[in-house]
Amino acid sequence: MITFKDITIQYDDFIAVKKLNFDVKEGEFFTFLGPSGCGKTTTLRALVGLTQPSSGSIYLNDRDITKLPTEKRDIKMVFQSYALFPTMTVFDNIAFGPKVNKVDKGMIEKKVHEIARKVDLTSEQLSKKVSELSGGQQQRVAIARALVNQPNILVLDEPLSNLDAKLRVQLRNELKSLQRNFGITTIYVTHDQEEALTLSDRIAVFNKGEIEQIGTPQEIYEQSATEFVCNFIGDSNDMTTLVHRYPEKFPALNFRDHRHFYTRIEKLKLFTSDQSYSLNEDEVAFEGVLVDTEYYGIYTKYTIAIENTIIRTILKEKLPMEELQNQKVRVVLNQQHVLQYA
Ligand SMILES: Nc1ncnc2c1ncn2[C@@H]1O[C@H](COP(=O)(O)OP(=O)(O)OP(=O)(O)O)[C@@H](O)[C@H]1O
Ligand SMILES: [Mg+2]
Repeated sequence: MITFKDITIQYDDFIAVKKLNFDVKEGEFFTFLGPSGCGKTTTLRALVGLTQPSSGSIYLNDRDITKLPTEKRDIKMVFQSYALFPTMTVFDNIAFGPKVNKVDKGMIEKKVHEIARKVDLTSEQLSKKVSELSGGQQQRVAIARALVNQPNILVLDEPLSNLDAKLRVQLRNELKSLQRNFGITTIYVTHDQEEALTLSDRIAVFNKGEIEQIGTPQEIYEQSATEFVCNFIGDSNDMTTLVHRYPEKFPALNFRDHRHFYTRIEKLKLFTSDQSYSLNEDEVAFEGVLVDTEYYGIYTKYTIAIENTIIRTILKEKLPMEELQNQKVRVVLNQQHVLQYA
C-alpha cells in the first residue's frame, strides 16, 4: 500500500500541492484527475522520488520512502514526455531495463516481443530508431518499456495523450487488462474524465494543488462532493437561478445549507407539450422552449430555455415532432437528482 501523509510540495514560494492525504491499495488502479497545472505530475514525481516534498511523508507498505532514492523504490514511471532514447532502436529501448538487470539474452528477446505484441508494435518497428516513429508509436514504446519489467507499481503520466481516438480506447483497454492480469498497482494521471471513469478503481480529483474528492467513478459522478467536481466531471445544468426563483417547487432541497444547485443532463426527462406525463413523487415540471437540437447518432442533445435559464438534456429517442425549433416543451426533473452545494 502507498500512503501520502500531509504531503506539501513547494517550488520556491509557490505551493504546487498542499497537504495531500491518500492511500493507494495493493493492485488498485488509482487515477489523479484534474485540469492542467493542478499538481498531478508534481505529486507523481514525489512518489517516484524525482521531487522532494517540502513536508509530509510517503510510505510504501508502512516503510517511510520519502527520502529513498528513485532506483530503490521499484516504481516504474511513464512520463508525459516519454523520455525514450531517440537514437536507440525500439527493441533496445524496451530491453534497456532487463539488460541493466542482467536478464538472460534469450529471455529478453522473448519478453520484448511479447510485450511489443501487447501494445501493437510490429517486429519491423522494433528494429527502427525511436526518432523514426510517430508520437503515438513512441508512446506505446514508453508503455512497453515500463511494463517489460513487471514492476510492482506502475506510474503513468497521461500515457495516451498523443494517440488518436480509436487507438486511445484500444490501448486503454489493453492497459486495463494488463494491469488486472499482472495485479500491478497503478497510478494513472489524466485530465480526460472518460478515461478516468472507465479505467479506475478509484479517482482523486485535484484542483489547484488540493484533492477535492476521492471515490469510485460512480461516487465521483453521482455524488460529486464539491461544485468543482460536479462541473469538472460529466455534463451538468446549473439550476441555481431557477431553483431560487421557485423554492416552493423544491421541498426536498436543503436551502439552509446549500445555495448552488445542479443536475446531470441525462437525468432530465423531456416531452413535447402535447405528450401526457404524470409526475412521480419528487418530480418537478417546467415549461420551456426548444432552442437547439444536435443529433449525435447514439443520442440527441436538446437545448431548452426555461425563462432565462438554459438547460441541456439528451434523449436516446428523438422527440416525436417534425419542426423542433422554438416549440414548447416540458422538462421534468427529480429533486433527488439535484446536486446541492454551499
Ligand atoms: N520545476 C518547477 N518549478 C516551478 N514551478 C513548477 C515546476 N514544476 C511545476 N511547477 C508548477 O506547479 C504547478 C503544478 O504543475 P504540474 O506539472 O504538477 O501540473 P499538472 O497537473 O501535471 O498539469 P498538466 O495537466 O498540464 O500536466 C503548476 O502551476 C506549475 O507551473
Ligand atoms: Mg502533468
